[in-house]
Amino acid sequence: MAIVSAEKFVAAARENGYAIGGFNTNNLEWTQAILRAAEAKKAPVLIQTSMGAGKYMGGYKTAKYIIENLVESMNITVPVAIHLDHGHYEDALECIEVGYTSLMFDGSHLPIAENLEKTKEVVALAHAKGISVEAEVGTIGGEEDGIVGAGELAPIEDAVAMVKTGIDFLAAGIGNIHGPYPANWAGLDLDHLKKLTEAVPGFPIVLHGGSGIPDDQIRAAIKLGVAKVNVNTESQQAFAAATRQFAKDYEANEAEYEAKKLFDPRKFLKPGIDAVQAAVEERIDVFGSANKA
Ligand code: 13P
Repeated sequence: MAIVSAEKFVAAARENGYAIGGFNTNNLEWTQAILRAAEAKKAPVLIQTSMGAGKYMGGYKTAKYIIENLVESMNITVPVAIHLDHGHYEDALECIEVGYTSLMFDGSHLPIAENLEKTKEVVALAHAKGISVEAEVGTIGGEEDGIVGAGELAPIEDAVAMVKTGIDFLAAGIGNIHGPYPANWAGLDLDHLKKLTEAVPGFPIVLHGGSGIPDDQIRAAIKLGVAKVNVNTESQQAFAAATRQFAKDYEANEAEYEAKKLFDPRKFLKPGIDAVQAAVEERIDVFGSANKA
């Protein structure tokens, strides 16, 4: 099946009451971990780069080729969309140009009229090439690539207007934020999500800031219409925890580890990357998208 746009499998998830993971990648190994997890779970998946990760990976073109070529060389059979996460207008256009199969245009920092206008333009250009489009209303809090939002509930009328632009799935603030949740976080506003999905019946909603939300809240949100959940921080935390543990073990067993040449990056990074795979598999189970490929 391999590389596809995302609108069909996200719509199928919405219709059948589960959610697809949108997992952020940072490099080649991270991409392999996500692909291995998706294949093991037989789950459709979006592999997404933020604008910063795109630059880090050597530009969108390089990122796209890494994902695309790995899908081929790893004999991946599940549907995979190559997605831009939180893209500015110019970045969205560049990703359309280089061959991403899905993208998010994030105009949530713009006045709503301008956000709608620009989204319409992106939709026309992307859909002409069969590329799926996500857009956002109501800033999602936290900090991502320098875009900082205060966290808010998306105005329902803005969501309705945004859906009319022809987008394929909608990110909307429902009390979620990017990054770790503070101890005093009030939780997802499921009443607001319900109002939102009643206003745009059957339309797939995207839950950003998927890391650290209690599983029962995620499941409740999926029941109400969330069909894509974005996860970044949890993968990073899994990687960091396993790598820190490995470094500690290295210190404690230095002579043995040196003799085994565990300083080789292919070995040094392995525990962290394996932890990313395990974290992604675990999320896929919670989202209900295992065996949906
Ligand atoms: P987390 O980093 O909180 O998982 O959020 C990811 C995200 O929403 C990417 O757009």
